[in-house]
Amino acid sequence: MAEERTPIISGNWKMHKNHFEAIQAVQKLHYRLGEEEQEGVVVTVHPPFTDLRSVQTLIESDRMHIVLGAQNCFYENEGAFTGEVSPAMLAKLDVAYVILGHSERRQDFGETDEMVNRKVKAVLAHQMIPILCCGETLEEREAGQAESKVDTQIRAGLAGLKASQVAGLVIAYEPIWAIGTGRTATSEDAQAMCAHIRSIIADAASADAAAAVRIQYGGSVKPGNIAELMRMPDIDGALVGGASLEPDEFAAIVQFRQH
Ligand code: PGA
Repeated sequence: MAEERTPIISGNWKMHKNHFEAIQAVQKLHYRLGEEEQEGVVVTVHPPFTDLRSVQTLIESDRMHIVLGAQNCFYENEGAFTGEVSPAMLAKLDVAYVILGHSERRQDFGETDEMVNRKVKAVLAHQMIPILCCGETLEEREAGQAESKVDTQIRAGLAGLKASQVAGLVIAYEPIWAIGTGRTATSEDAQAMCAHIRSIIADAASADAAAAVRIQYGGSVKPGNIAELMRMPDIDGALVGGASLEPDEFAAIVQFRQH
């Protein structure tokens, strides 16, 4: 990981934990991390929408360094969109990071690259930071199409953005075959794709944006594999699903420097 980019480790809780459980988990995480151990690492948690207000209040009242994130949002500010949550609503809850285009949203809820691009713009318009997800299926990897799939997703996701906006983003490379399967990409394969993503951004935005953008790896990240992943020059952090649900495990991931 390059020195000038601050590592960012994000916990994607998916559809787990009600607001009572979320409060307990964040309290425990805060206790496990302590302020010193978290130093130099941005830690974000992404609970379900129904937990956000409770977690926001906790983080603020206890002045925690843990940063609040969301897992998705719609691109319109308000209107007749039953069941959707707007970026304005999330910004009002002091949400700082929003995961967008997660493969589960793309595969199970029909999100297209164009929708993801609209969401990226809407989140930026509300001074929040998108965590833009990309990644290939196993079939695509085996067919030698992993790079081109990611290329398409990144270029479409970032279409119409200024280079200065791209510089502030987080990109999460999550090979779909590694999500929730216990099958992590090797650190070399993850590094190769993250370097490829940086070169796409240099081409699509600017060299400065490519040097500044933070790239996470996601897919079965655990305390036992984080240190090796974080040693890779183009991997700046991790998007963690299953292992972020258990505060002890997630804290051990955040404290990767101690491994
Ligand atoms: P996992 O999920 O860590 O459980 O593989 C990662 C993700 O989907 O963001």
